[in-house]
Amino acid sequence: MSLKDLPKLELHLHLEGAAPPAFIRGLAKEKSVDLTGVFKEDGSYAYRDFVHFLSVYEAATSVLKSPDDYARLVSAVLEESAAQGVVYCETFVSPDFCGGSDVGAWREYLHAMQEAADRAEARDGIILRGIVTCIRHFGPDKARASALCAAETAGDWITGFGIAGDEGKGKPGDFAWSFDLAREAGLRLTAHAGEWGGPQSVRDTLRDLGVERIGHGVRAIEDPALVDELAEAGVTLEVCPGSNVVLGVYPDWSSHPIQRLRERGVKVTVSTDDPPFFHTTMRHEYEQLERVFGWETADFLEISRNALDAAFCDGNTRERVADRLKDHPNERTSDDR
Ligand code: HPA
Ligand code: ZN
Repeated sequence: MSLKDLPKLELHLHLEGAAPPAFIRGLAKEKSVDLTGVFKEDGSYAYRDFVHFLSVYEAATSVLKSPDDYARLVSAVLEESAAQGVVYCETFVSPDFCGGSDVGAWREYLHAMQEAADRAEARDGIILRGIVTCIRHFGPDKARASALCAAETAGDWITGFGIAGDEGKGKPGDFAWSFDLAREAGLRLTAHAGEWGGPQSVRDTLRDLGVERIGHGVRAIEDPALVDELAEAGVTLEVCPGSNVVLGVYPDWSSHPIQRLRERGVKVTVSTDDPPFFHTTMRHEYEQLERVFGWETADFLEISRNALDAAFCDGNTRERVADRLKDHPNERTSDDR
């Protein structure tokens, strides 16, 4: 079976960040929104660095103005993910962009997204779950409003709560109230850390927010004791190597620590983050991991099992996804692991 056909699980995907540029341009035209500066001449997204990326991201997102726009976005994104061989996906969704974190409006956006996801599942078999995500540079008050939306709609589809945005703004502890609320509502927790911040940002995030997964977390490699702690505690990292290389966290693929983290016993998974922004796809990530680190089918299946174990879904969904992996001809049995 080729890498293209391997069943893939993706745990770290920003919904708006997965929007194809042509999709955003189409909506901008329909709604007469001026997106000057968002695109390069070749039609791809234009940004200089991470902080500029965040502002271009928000400008592009400004064309998404209704539940129906989000339904169309979910359809477009899942069509592409399914074509990449993704069978299970978790996406970050932000009430800030979906009705300004008003609970009533948020419910309408959510309903539309879920219906679109159900249609995609019926069409392509791909399963989607949502992680409500607050945005760090919007501050702790906005995060509280997002957490309230998350808590109100926690269930089979909204299964997690997280934080994205500018890691340089504020401290993890500023968002503890929101994470506590989400936890009490039964949501599973993840947070971006250790991408722009060093190992201490991962330590602070684990201590103050009590998350079970870390978005990126790759800079933990700079602190061997932390690497051991992550391995022992079974914290799963949502690693997005292509994103890290394009944004300059690492100068090239061969410098990326994903293989070293794995060798040290850390549970890693592979995702694309914001694929069109970073000129990547799940297949491209797999091809690079094969080319640069010599990963084989068994390595990719191990990554998929890590993702399955760490997925924020109920047991029944986990079993359905496991079935998609199980009959794989090259899967090692538990005896020879
Ligand atoms: N990182 C942090 N925040 C984000 C991202 C990202 O890749 N995409 C959208 N918000
Ligand atoms: Zn991210």
